[in-house]
Amino acid sequence: LYHVLGAKQFGRDELERLFDSSKEMEDVVSRGGDRRHQGKIMTSLFFEASTRTRLSFESAMHRLGGSVIGTENASQFSSAIKGETLEDTIRIISGYSDVIVMRHTEIGAAKRAAAVADVPVLNAGDGAGEHPTQALLDAYTIRKQFGKIEGLKIAMVGDLAYGRTVHSLSYILANYQDVMVYYISPDNVRIPDNVKKYMDEKGIRYQETTDLDSVAGTVDVLYQTRIQKERFPSMEEYEKASGQYIVDAELLSRMRQDAIVLHPLPRAGEISEEIDNDPRAAYFRQAVNGVYIRMALLDQALSESKA
Ligand code: CP
Repeated sequence: LYHVLGAKQFGRDELERLFDSSKEMEDVVSRGGDRRHQGKIMTSLFFEASTRTRLSFESAMHRLGGSVIGTENASQFSSAIKGETLEDTIRIISGYSDVIVMRHTEIGAAKRAAAVADVPVLNAGDGAGEHPTQALLDAYTIRKQFGKIEGLKIAMVGDLAYGRTVHSLSYILANYQDVMVYYISPDNVRIPDNVKKYMDEKGIRYQETTDLDSVAGTVDVLYQTRIQKERFPSMEEYEKASGQYIVDAELLSRMRQDAIVLHPLPRAGEISEEIDNDPRAAYFRQAVNGVYIRMALLDQALSESKA
């Protein structure tokens, strides 16, 4: 089964295939979609809130001719609230659908689900762990913009501890030699050691700093993130981390003309709306790319499980 559990599972060749397939999906969408997965059903199983991931997956499944089932909020409206285990929930849903897209509060939940599922499981975010499909669309956006990923300077800014997208994006970037990654964060939300260890093992250059000003003018990509208020152990810790890095017109004026600003969104004040109309503000077109990447992933998962 073609599960997508974490970003380390993607090697360079598979990434290139996936990006090529996503490009083809752009054409499919421009034709209004096709019927290649008619009769197939995707379950949306979201134990945490989502706008982009859930709706872009659902849009992707519809564009491929399939249909979607799900509960509005699995924490409240699935039988998890009556004490059903995640494993039993997945066993049941495996009999109702052909692919499961799951977001959960706990690190490793997608792996637990895949261990008992009879259908592919696609990880739509597991707590502060990973968000692999987001990282794929981030990398796709970068590649579309620059025509390559190799050799780029990429700054990840903000909550690098609880922000799962930067963990997954680091693992994707580790496939590309000569990238330079800057991890810019408050001290209490630094990039985790296990991510740095992986980058070391892959020989990827990176630098940790608290000083955004010193690198803003040199980078190709500034990947801003939200401080994940809901994951902090206390308000005191959250307040230490919040409000330190804001991408506004002044900061943008010091960035290169060919640079881009990305953000997985939602934002909570860390990107000023005053830059939204600057061509370098790429976060809304980044979100659209989520449909194409997720169409490519669903197509692969559903095609492989048919065999
Ligand atoms: N980027 C992202 O995961 O957004 P949602 O939480 O809205 O799905």
